[in-house]
Amino acid sequence: MAAKFIEKVLVLATGGTIAGSAASAADNIGYTAAQVGVSQLLAAVPGLDQVLAGRTLEAEQVAQIDSKDMSFAVWQQLAQRVNHHLAQADVAGIVITHGTDTLEETAYFLHAVLPALQLASKPVVLTCAMRPASSVAPDGPQNIRDAVVVATTTGACGVLAVCAGAVHAAADVQKVHTYRLDAFSSGDAGAVAYVEEGAVRLVKNWPLAPVDMAHAAIEKIASVNHWPRVEIVMNYAGASGALVDALLAPVSAAGAQGQTDAQLAQVPLRGLVVAGTGNGTIHQDLEAALRRAQALGVRVVRSTRCATGRVLATESSEFAHSKGLSPVKARIALMLELMQA
Ligand code: SIN
Repeated sequence: MAAKFIEKVLVLATGGTIAGSAASAADNIGYTAAQVGVSQLLAAVPGLDQVLAGRTLEAEQVAQIDSKDMSFAVWQQLAQRVNHHLAQADVAGIVITHGTDTLEETAYFLHAVLPALQLASKPVVLTCAMRPASSVAPDGPQNIRDAVVVATTTGACGVLAVCAGAVHAAADVQKVHTYRLDAFSSGDAGAVAYVEEGAVRLVKNWPLAPVDMAHAAIEKIASVNHWPRVEIVMNYAGASGALVDALLAPVSAAGAQGQTDAQLAQVPLRGLVVAGTGNGTIHQDLEAALRRAQALGVRVVRSTRCATGRVLATESSEFAHSKGLSPVKARIALMLELMQA
């Protein structure tokens, strides 16, 4: 008799407030992130068996960090683990627990590098919490439950983020609040779906993976030692070219072997993303410095510091625009593009 095929859901934990702990249950801000292990996180989620409906749940602690400290090394490790599990026939979907602070960056990174074919049939769902696990009313358990609901929903696919009952696409999601439980928004694009009492209410199509992104090569990511250095500069009243000029100052790449992210910052600049004002406008002095950077071969991409809306191309602009990406996501896209070059 053929063995019964049992599907499973993988939970990959990386730390964050969802795994945070404070001395007092009343304290929702004075905690230390990334203290609680994944088994303990899952044990605190009520009714998971019901949601899993006969599937099994497996967990892996991929990292244990405050996501403000997210590193290229953790991204490489995470992408590898997700890629491995996505390729297994018995894996229905993957849930990643993550800090809220850089969740949108990790989500976009995975969206860009994971194989489009795998993402077309399976969801990778990032989730998080605004209150630590030790809180009198933590939001993590509900968010994990909702993420598992999405991960086991027929037809769900792509890289998604689940928080406070809303399901966002990786390309659109952005943290927009410092404190509220409903801390994420998809801006003009709106959420993909909502999770209500264990059921998904889809309000638009599940997101497609970017098959046209030539740099979406997971093997490349696994082996890369030197990530192209791309920095973000912002436009504001009184902005000058001083920061750009400092970044352009020749820096020694000597001793670049086995470098940490901090040491990587010493690698010569390859790209600059400008968080411009409004429709990506740039102070004339900063613009002149960016022109100097571009003349030296540094790629310049124009984004906006506005929370919503996209930079619309103007005929007069000499810099590329970010194709609707926020500054932090445009930086990732540019790094991946440069990596492929
Ligand atoms: C973090 O991003 O790891 C800490 C903050 C949070 O998860 O809300």
